[in-house]
Amino acid sequence: MRKTAVVTGASSGIGAATARRLAAEGFHVVLAARRRDRLDALAKEIGESVPGAGRIVPVELDVTSQASVDALAAAVGGCHVLVNNAGGALGLESVATAVLDEWRAMYDTNVLGLVRVTKALLPALIESGNGHVVNITSLAGHVPYEGGGGYNAAKHAAYAVNEVLRLELVAQPVRVTEVAPGLVKTEEFSLVRFHGDEERAAKPYEGVPEPLVADDVADCVAWAVTRPPHVNIDRIDVQPRVQAAPHRLHREI
Ligand SMILES: NC(=O)c1ccc[n+]([C@@H]2O[C@H](COP(=O)([O-])OP(=O)(O)OC[C@H]3O[C@@H](n4cnc5c(N)ncnc54)[C@H](OP(=O)(O)O)[C@@H]3O)[C@@H](O)[C@H]2O)c1
Repeated sequence: MRKTAVVTGASSGIGAATARRLAAEGFHVVLAARRRDRLDALAKEIGESVPGAGRIVPVELDVTSQASVDALAAAVGGCHVLVNNAGGALGLESVATAVLDEWRAMYDTNVLGLVRVTKALLPALIESGNGHVVNITSLAGHVPYEGGGGYNAAKHAAYAVNEVLRLELVAQPVRVTEVAPGLVKTEEFSLVRFHGDEERAAKPYEGVPEPLVADDVADCVAWAVTRPPHVNIDRIDVQPRVQAAPHRLHREI
């Protein structure tokens, strides 16, 4: 029997790559994000490129809206795997110059969004008898860096929720895994962070010979969810070889 995976933030980057990988692993995949046109295009692409793919179902979702998350839960029905990937960073201001609305937005998406979707799908995950929640946090959720305050705080909180969830679900048939990537070159993450400023958005990747790409993170997710049901992969920290810490990147410039 095919299992169903729900991937939030599936309209680009790591979420889209994860959806492709899970489809290739034989899952039915629910693609969830705000931009429906991109989800439709991805569903079509997976249908055409993954031989024998299961059902690929696009669902419009805003993780900051309870009504939207309720509608997702109603549309999904059965669920074995939930990948909480929707999220991102806004700005690089110091604490002294923090833009509080951006901190609030990061908390709302990366933390409350994760909790909202998890709460809504937890009954189905438990009911499946072999559920799995995978939370995409970040290296920023473990190692602070200057200018990272708001994002660091949100991702540290997401890490905390991930750990609490595993403790609370220990007697339930649900695994909980955190995937914490370092620098990943995705097309939109940095552009969103710097509000569409392409020059600033390119800076983090400047001279970095081989950053991670979205597929590298998708590979980690696919590996974790395809272990035998009694094996819980607690956390995967994954960085490019040329990165030893958020602030310790080898650049060829
Ligand atoms: N790129 C990196 O270096 C990196 C490193 C570590 C961790 N991460 C984390 O990995 C995850 C994915 O990042 P990415 O690099 O793939 O970035 P991305 O390409 O910007 O993707 C972010 C995804 O989240 C979705 N999203 C944002 N707000 C949402 C909301 N309110 N409701 C539903 N979906 C929402 C976006 O879709 P819509 O706009 O269509 O809703 C998009 O699909 C994020 O949690 C990010 O923090 C990224």
